Amino acid sequence: MERLQKVIANSGYCSRRKAEEYIVNGKVKVNGSVVRKLGVKVSFSDQISVCGTDIKKEDKEYILLYKPRGVITSASDDKGRKTVLDLIDTKNRLYPVGRLDYDTSGVLLLTNDGEITNKLTHPKRNIEKVYIAKIDGIIRKDDLKVLCKGVVIDGRKTSKAKARIRKIDKKKNTSIVEITIHEGRNHQIKKMFNYIGFNVIKLKREVFAGLTLSGLSSGKYRHLSIKEVKILYSLVD
Ligand code: URA
Repeated sequence: MERLQKVIANSGYCSRRKAEEYIVNGKVKVNGSVVRKLGVKVSFSDQISVCGTDIKKEDKEYILLYKPRGVITSASDDKGRKTVLDLIDTKNRLYPVGRLDYDTSGVLLLTNDGEITNKLTHPKRNIEKVYIAKIDGIIRKDDLKVLCKGVVIDGRKTSKAKARIRKIDKKKNTSIVEITIHEGRNHQIKKMFNYIGFNVIKLKREVFAGLTLSGLSSGKYRHLSIKEVKILYSLVD
């Protein structure tokens, strides 16, 4: 037996938070009766529906996408922009694990496994993310030291980071920096560099939870192997 919101999220229908919203708003029925209380225990043998749709246990699918720039990380967009789901051919309802900005490229995991999504995006999990940032201006090691100790963005200090200079182009007045963080706050990398007086011109995520872009070109994707999924679970359990 599992909590109702967890069963809904694990089915791939929506996130756990969204499932809780549906429950309190009276959109969820268990064996034909509306349940508005959070935490009721059910199993997949109970007949569960959300907004009139029956919940079934789906096969779990795990996709690693090389997100190109100019695509939104969301299931739909009210401005009609292309979304990451437009790049993937699947019959399952997949969700991105975390976000990359419209103009950021790189590793993006998508899945209908609500449990791993919640765990990987939980702020306490310390999942490693490596970004390559192209910065306007010539950055110095001392600037990076400030960044690595933690800077205040949106009223809260960022946790410790690692960073190193990969390249300096004096003629173009740009720098390329590799930076490793363990949080996933909104526009975090851009805000961190802004704090120390630099603008991020280009941003790419090279690593997420040990997964890299190896073998993929921009816009392409592959399925994770069972071994890779097990490793993801071992990182969060
Ligand atoms: N930090 C950002 O600023 N943007 C991203 O897309 C990811 C991390």
